Amino acid sequence: MKALTWQGHRKVTVEEVPDPRIEQPTDAIIRVTSTAICGSDLHLYELFGPFIDRGDVLGHEPMGIVEEVGADVTQLAVGDRVVIPFNIACGHCFMCRRGLQSQCETTQVREYGSGAALFGYTKLYGQVPGGQAEYLRVPLADYNHIRVGADLPDDRYLFLSDILPTAWQGLQYAHVPDGGTVVVMGLGPVGQFVARAGVHLGYRVLAVDPVAERRALADRHGASTFDLTDDIVDQLRDLTEGRGADAVVDAVGLEAHGDPVIAFAQRAAGMLPDPVARRVMDTAGMDRLAALYASIDVARRGGTVSISGVYAGDADILPMKTMFDKQISLRMGQCNVKRWIDTLLPLVEDPADPLGVMDLTTHRVPLTDAPQLYETFQKKADGCIKVVLQP
Ligand SMILES: NC(=O)c1ccc[n+]([C@@H]2O[C@H](COP(=O)([O-])OP(=O)(O)OC[C@H]3O[C@@H](n4cnc5c(N)ncnc54)[C@H](O)[C@@H]3O)[C@@H](O)[C@H]2O)c1
Ligand SMILES: [Zn+2]
Ligand SMILES: [Zn+2]
Repeated sequence: MKALTWQGHRKVTVEEVPDPRIEQPTDAIIRVTSTAICGSDLHLYELFGPFIDRGDVLGHEPMGIVEEVGADVTQLAVGDRVVIPFNIACGHCFMCRRGLQSQCETTQVREYGSGAALFGYTKLYGQVPGGQAEYLRVPLADYNHIRVGADLPDDRYLFLSDILPTAWQGLQYAHVPDGGTVVVMGLGPVGQFVARAGVHLGYRVLAVDPVAERRALADRHGASTFDLTDDIVDQLRDLTEGRGADAVVDAVGLEAHGDPVIAFAQRAAGMLPDPVARRVMDTAGMDRLAALYASIDVARRGGTVSISGVYAGDADILPMKTMFDKQISLRMGQCNVKRWIDTLLPLVEDPADPLGVMDLTTHRVPLTDAPQLYETFQKKADGCIKVVLQP
């Protein structure tokens, strides 16, 4: 089959690779019909080379049709239409029972001290072949699927695999009071959905992104948007009676604009031999923290900062005095996809499309064009906000 493979820093290619096969009786094989590129894939493209092998198949936002099931699969049949969550979880361990599927104790990658295995996401997360491919092997398939109807187009459902529940969790973790104000840092696909979910739930949404067309899209869905200027925090504080926002969602993560020194250090670490680079990245303050610092700054006293963007440095410098003095609550983490599906499925099927799932994809191309679209998405060129690949 054809699959999008990682080949090096900013280099991905579509290659002919062996078709996935049933390896465990609990597996299923999916024929992928749509599969998106995520902002998280850009971190692999740019930074996480030391944790990936050349030829690894990327992708963790797929949906498709069940092609084959293992002998022990009872909840799926050939021909079923399914979305595949990006976390691989068992559904019955201590963590899964508590709605913490991204911490699943059955699939945790203990070798690296990581949470649940993920599709297409480095050795840290199990090096499981990903879904930017014609076919995908789904482990523990009885649990790792979201069954959907046959009538609506893929775009209605596709974002249930990751960014929609991620945004929803980010907003839930932000604990916005009724009618309160939430600031959304970053208007990539995740931030777009955080902003829309915030509008849908009746909050006042103030959102920041340096890219004009991303602001325009969020404006159209009811957010008030702001460019990333030097005085952005003051502007937002002025709009919140000088106090700051009740809650802030950081939907940017470790590649934020505005941190040139760390950007250089990140690149330099990526040039080191893999084992050395891994050690550096594990132990140093490696994240570009501009968005997180601004989030902490703009939250009001007693407010919450909820981090959806990915961070990866284990020795980042945080303003503890400020956070302690302001009594900031902090929540974060990988999305627990299945925890939010019962809430989100009716919203994506609603004819009124309250979260606008049909109005996010800017680029829809064959899988073979994926390498070009990685570049376009990373550069935010050509108005690119969300890319959907069709194998
Ligand atoms: N927690 C999870 O489970 C989960 C799931 C999916 C994605 N993510 C992460 O969420 C983040 C966003 O993903 P995305 O797909 O929307 O990616 P993206 O890269 O398209 O979005 C990031 C946005 O932030 C903007 N930005 C950059 N610096 C900024 C700053 N200092 N202030 C405000 N905005 C800034 C960029 O212009 C861009 O629009 C990524 O870090 C991704 O890895 C996390
Ligand atoms: Zn993702
Ligand atoms: Zn589990």
